[in-house]
Order: sequence, then C-alpha cells, then structure tokens
Amino acid sequence: TDSGYNLWLNYRKIENPEVLSEYTRHIQGIYMESGEETLNIVKEELTLALKGLLGMSPPFVPGQPKEYSLIVRKTENLSREIRRKLEKDIPAITKDGYLIRSSGKNIVITAHNDIGILYGTFHFLRHLQQQLSLGNIRILEVPKTDIRVLNHWDNLDRTVERGYAGASIWKWHRLPGYIDPRYKDYARANASVGINGTVLTNVNASALVLTPAYIEKVAALADVFRPYGIKVYLTARFSAPIEIGGLETADPLNPEVRQWWKEKISEIYKEIPDFGGFLVKANSEGQPGPQNYGRSHVDGANMMADALAPHNGIVMWRAFVYSEHDTTDRAKQAYSEFVSLDGKFRDNVLIQVKNGAIDFQPREPFHPMFAAMPRTPLMMEFQITQEYLGFSTHMVFLPKLYEEVLQADTYSHGKGSYVAKVIDGTLDNKKISGIAGVANIGSDINWTGHPFGQANWYGFGRLAWDPYIPAEKIADEWLRLTFSNDENFVTPVKKMLLQSHRAVVNYMTPLGLHHIMDTGHHYGPGPWVNNLSRPEWNPVYYHKADENGIGFDRTPTGSNATSQYTKEVARIFNDVETCPEEFLLWFHHLPWDYKLHNGRTLWDGLGIKYQEGVNQVRKAKNTWKKMEPYVNKQQFGEISMLLDIQLEEAVWWRNACMLYFQTHSKKAFPKEMETPS
Ligand code: GCU
Repeated sequence: TDSGYNLWLNYRKIENPEVLSEYTRHIQGIYMESGEETLNIVKEELTLALKGLLGMSPPFVPGQPKEYSLIVRKTENLSREIRRKLEKDIPAITKDGYLIRSSGKNIVITAHNDIGILYGTFHFLRHLQQQLSLGNIRILEVPKTDIRVLNHWDNLDRTVERGYAGASIWKWHRLPGYIDPRYKDYARANASVGINGTVLTNVNASALVLTPAYIEKVAALADVFRPYGIKVYLTARFSAPIEIGGLETADPLNPEVRQWWKEKISEIYKEIPDFGGFLVKANSEGQPGPQNYGRSHVDGANMMADALAPHNGIVMWRAFVYSEHDTTDRAKQAYSEFVSLDGKFRDNVLIQVKNGAIDFQPREPFHPMFAAMPRTPLMMEFQITQEYLGFSTHMVFLPKLYEEVLQADTYSHGKGSYVAKVIDGTLDNKKISGIAGVANIGSDINWTGHPFGQANWYGFGRLAWDPYIPAEKIADEWLRLTFSNDENFVTPVKKMLLQSHRAVVNYMTPLGLHHIMDTGHHYGPGPWVNNLSRPEWNPVYYHKADENGIGFDRTPTGSNATSQYTKEVARIFNDVETCPEEFLLWFHHLPWDYKLHNGRTLWDGLGIKYQEGVNQVRKAKNTWKKMEPYVNKQQFGEISMLLDIQLEEAVWWRNACMLYFQTHSKKAFPKEMETPS
C-alpha cells in the first residue's frame, strides 16, 4: 500500500487490458540517446514508470529505431527523416519546452535540451497514467513563465513558519555529508510538474545561511537538484553585513556594504555556479531593510541585483510590506510604497506580490499592484501552505483560488488584461517572468500532512508552467495520477475538490469578510479579538461590525483603496450593485438589513452562507464515504478522519461567528441556519 510518499508518481499497474495492449504495442523499443545525469534520470524514470504501469522492463535498444518505438532524443540528434516530419513543430519548441509527437508508427519525445527531454518524459508518463490514447499524439509545450519556484519558509532549526506537515525536510545538521534520499524524490516531484527553483529558507531570514559552513550545505543540495533543472535560491537578511560581516551598517549606498555583498555573492557562486539568487523580505513585519537607513526599496534591491548580475543571478524582492505608522488601511500600503518605483529596478529584479493586498486570506480580490507596474516584472506569490485555510487539517483544493486570481481582469489594457498575462509577462512584454508558491511540504510521510495537500503542490506547479490551465483539469489529472482512473471515483471526488474552496470561504469568511481568524496562529474563529497592540492585527479592524452593520468601506467614502485599481475595476467594486457579492464586505460597510441580490437581508445572507459552508463539508463527507473501494485503506481512513474534524470545525466557525455578530446585529438567525446549541 502507498502511504502517499510517492505522490502523483506512484505508477500503479494499468488494469484495463485494451489500454495495456495499446501501450505495449506502441512501446516495443525505446531509442534513447545516452548522455549525462539528466538523461540518466530520464532513463531511470522511464524504467520505474513502465515497470509499474505496464509491468515490463522497458526495452532500451541501440541503433536505428524500428517501428512502434519510443524515440527520446534532442532535436539535433533526431534522424534527418524524422526532423523533416517534425519540421513545423521544432522551431516552436523554445526555452525548456518539448514536443511529444507521433511520427509514422513511432512516438518521438524531443526537446532542444536535456531538461526539456525530462519535462517531456514526465508529460508522456502523465499521459499514460491517465490512460489517454497514443494514437496520433501531438503535444507541444513551452513553459509560460521563466521562474517557477517554491518558497520554503524553513528555518535552520528545522521548524517551518506556517508549516503544518512536520519538520523541514532540510536536515541542515547532517549536510553536506549526508544526502537524505528524500532530496532526490523532492526534486523528481518538482521536475515532474516543471518547478525549476526552490528558495530553501524562510523569508524571515537568518543571516547564518550565508556563512561558509551553510553555503557548503546549500551547495550539496544544489548538486542533487541540478540534474532535475532546479536551481537553489536563498533568502538574504538585509542586515547580514552587520550580523555576519562585522560591519557597522547595512546601508545599501555605503561602499563597504556594497563590496561586502559583492564578495559574499562571489563566494556563493564559487560553490554553486548556477545559484539562482535572493528572495528578500525587507522593511516588513520587523525585518531589516533599506528604509532603516532612509533608503528605498530600489536602493536595496538594486544593490543586490548589481552584485548578482555578473553571475546571472536575480533578486526577488517582496512587496508584502505594511507598517505600524499608517493604520487607516493596511490593504493600501504595498501599492503606496512600490508603484512610484516602477521602472527604477534593475533588469534582474522581480517584485514578488502576494495574490491579494492583505495576506493570503481564504478569498481576496486580486492585488491592485498587478495593474500598476508595467515596467517591472511582477511575480505572483501564492501560498500553498494553508495558513488561513485550516492548516493541513481542512481540505481545500487551492488551484480554484489560484485560477480565480489568475483569471481576474485588471483592465490595465482594457478588457481581457488578466492577471495571468501580467504574470507571464505578455501584457507588457516583460523580459522575465515568474511565480512563487509558499510550500506546504514537510517531513510527514505523505509530504503535505493532508493527503489532498499534495494536489495543491501539484496544481501550483502546473499553473506555474501554464497559468491558463483550468483548475478542473488539474483536479482531474491529479486524481487519476494519485488514486484511480475509475470514473465512479474521479467524477464525484473532482466535484468535491472543486467545491472545497468555496466551502471553506463560506464557513470562515463569506461575503468578503477577512482576517477574522484567531490571531497569531490564524486557526479557528476570533472575530471578537480586539486586544492586540497594533490595530491592524485585530480582527475587529477588518470586519468593523457594530449595531449599524458590518464591512470595511474601501470606497471613496472610506479608505478609498479602490482608487488603486484601474478606473474600470474601481467602478465595479465601488458600486454596491456591481461589486461581486463574494467581495461585498471587503469593499463596503453595509447595514444589517441591506438587501442582497436574492432579496434576503445581509444578516440572513450571512447566516445562510455560513450554513452553506457547513452543508458543503457534510456533502463532502458523504461523497468520501462511498470512495472506500477506490483508494487504499490508510488514505481512506486518514481523509475520513480529517473530514470529520473539518465538519466539526465548520460548525464551530459558523456558530462562533454568527453568535458574535449577533451581539451587534441583535437579530434572530435565519430559518435556514441550524441554531447553535
Ligand atoms: C504572514 C505570515 C507570516 C509571514 C508573512 C510573510 O503574515 O503570518 O508568518 O512571515 O506572512 O509573508 O512574510
């Protein structure tokens, strides 16, 4: 039985005899060019997968390809005849892209480089795992973004900030001597979905990782990841020149400081020639930064960028900033600090922006910065770990959230200016593009704690490669790869996954409510909390409920945060009639008896939504109950228990929030809502 360790790469035996015979007929020989490490990995993966899926030792054969074989070669090593047949497609294989195509009776997997071959192979295997036909196959894929990275918020003591799947998988104290086999499996899993970078350390950074002893450890990890096309990056603590360099300042305009970073970076590249660069959290939540010296984000980011540029390194500078000084509306701060800096950053700087302007809430409108910096590459930062989403206890299929944000229309160039086009750089012709996901990975046997958490890692990777893939397709793929191809399983469970995000929003923060979790840990309800020293840390700051009503007025009569959006978007959000109801209380403070589109009062609507969330989890539980025949005992049991907890906690959320809000509204619960007991 599979404990979940093998993720979506578990290569179960295909039982369907027709599919099996089609596949064995097509793969009578594998003609593979030999090569270095990456191509050996391709061979290893094909061996493992075909053994699992088809129960055969793959027939690697030398010489000229015969009919009914798989040809795995770089374009330059294909025969002239095949090259001629693929002539139209080959020029379209750019970057690390690949082509999988029938050519006569053969199937060709080709790319310009080894990594493309590896990606193509994983795609081909995914195709087999889903039992799709091999007849006349033609798949041409090119990654739509350049930098597809996981952000590990892992500390050097192996605790993980907002990590809910056990300790960090980086065993620092044993590195560089001991290479945990898990590193390789991690790299494999990432490469299989096209992730090509990993930031090893927490954004709340320790300077220690930049000392020689740690650089050596990082280099050992980089060596494992390299053949999988994965670069390592580190978080750079801005005050490192003081803490480990013995300087008196970290002022980015100070020549000694600049020299220190230059040397530090050269030192890193000596050990890790393909080091990716830095991720920096500066002047946010107490982290040091250029503003400590009266300098700007540009000064700070460009200093590091200049030192990294000769080595082809990049800086991912985070836009997640908010300070205690401006407390009118935290949602406005990142935009206010960054937008005027557009065009001033070096070419190798990307600004990494969270999907929404507050902080990874269950649902947020897209960040207004995405429409406002046409001359700066903007990276998306999604959270895969479920900080505000029930940790690894609640089932939430996050590609739904990602899709909603990526498909949001910024209107920066009129209708159709989707966030996805900002992220892939096509909208403003950016030279470099990227997307980051805060990892949900830990040392748990199944990597992510909740078995369904794996879908979020998988889905992030797929969307990083191509931000336009529908969440529905991702759910379909992942379920088939991970559990079963049986329609009686895939259809209902897919529905359950696709509904799970809405369910959580309903029972935690419906109608645009946000940040009403209990504070600090962010688990469970705490809308009543009002005793923290900084106003914007208190849930009451966000919902603003009183006897008159509820919601955060961000229109011109309130904080005017809507003015940070384009005119078209601001108009939609400002008008209570056109504002999507899922964002109603995000943008408006409304009386309790305000009429919703369905004619019910806001108060009733709130209760109905909370109830709907509970009902949706109940439904999920019922769906899952019937899935015992399709998954192994352990995973069936794990998910059942987790759904039990989720239901209990959905009820807790509903009761806690509605009872609390009732102290303001003084109204009876709507009849649709179960009365808290
Ligand atoms: C959230 C989270 C912090 C994290 C921060 C960040 O506020 O609670 O733990 O450090 O985001 O993204 O920097």
